[in-house]
Amino acid sequence: MPAFSSQPSDPIAVFDSGLGGLTVVRALLRRLPRERLIYFGDTARVPYGSKSPRTVLQFARQCLHFLTQFNPKLMVVACNTVSATALQSLHQDFTVPIIGVLEPGAAAAVAAARIPAGQPRRIGLIATEATIASQAYNQAVTRLDATIQVIGRACPLLVPMIEEGRLQESPIVRSVLQEYLHPFKSLQVPVLILGCTHYPIFSQAIEATLGSSTTLIDSADQTALVVAEKLATMHIANDAGTPLADGLTCYVTDQGQRFESLAGRFLGRLITQPVWVEPERLENLTVEK
Ligand code: DGL
Repeated sequence: MPAFSSQPSDPIAVFDSGLGGLTVVRALLRRLPRERLIYFGDTARVPYGSKSPRTVLQFARQCLHFLTQFNPKLMVVACNTVSATALQSLHQDFTVPIIGVLEPGAAAAVAAARIPAGQPRRIGLIATEATIASQAYNQAVTRLDATIQVIGRACPLLVPMIEEGRLQESPIVRSVLQEYLHPFKSLQVPVLILGCTHYPIFSQAIEATLGSSTTLIDSADQTALVVAEKLATMHIANDAGTPLADGLTCYVTDQGQRFESLAGRFLGRLITQPVWVEPERLENLTVEK
């Protein structure tokens, strides 16, 4: 494997199966306004969450390999499904440091879970089928606090509804959330991890369904903090000069119109002209190792 070396001026690459990773981009832009970001959304092959770990790993390898052409100083896997099922293998495949969203999300949840004495020590998790099946959140939380139990539920309808542009006020969205969140209401969990980077788009509706006594944990801010710390430790932060007016470039595998029209909901501002990458191009790439 070639030795890794990079400069503060090199970009940060961010990858997700679709649009959800833009919630992490938003947090990165807020915390690190001088960094150039390259975003890759595998919008032709989303959702990953209903696919097998083998397929998820194969797709993730191809996408990260595509991103290495930009010489990123760091890659962020802004997808819980990939973070839960493939991150360890990806660390072995690439020399570029990779940060996932799962460990930061678990850390934020444990920090927020102030459970009164005598109450059951459990927190809730909603995520894709693949993330729930991996048990990766349960393991990450146990490593931080072995007395806390994670009660997880897969919510496979949420990502397609979000990628389709459904609004959280929609009666269909409200009724699907009622169904999925019912167990957490009965258990009165103090904390619910939004274990998929798409879900913050529905956070108001989730809050309205569960009530204000449950704190929602979104890993985006914590991930941005971990990225900032990693860059500082490696002495490759781009922290001098004026903030960039537009430091974000987006690549997608499905032609960009849907991405353009929905990205604003995730980012809080418009994205124009994402660059289209044919999925066939990715399939011909081999990993760095
Ligand atoms: N955004 C991805 C995650 O965080 C999931 C969406 C998908 O199923 O591809 O898990």
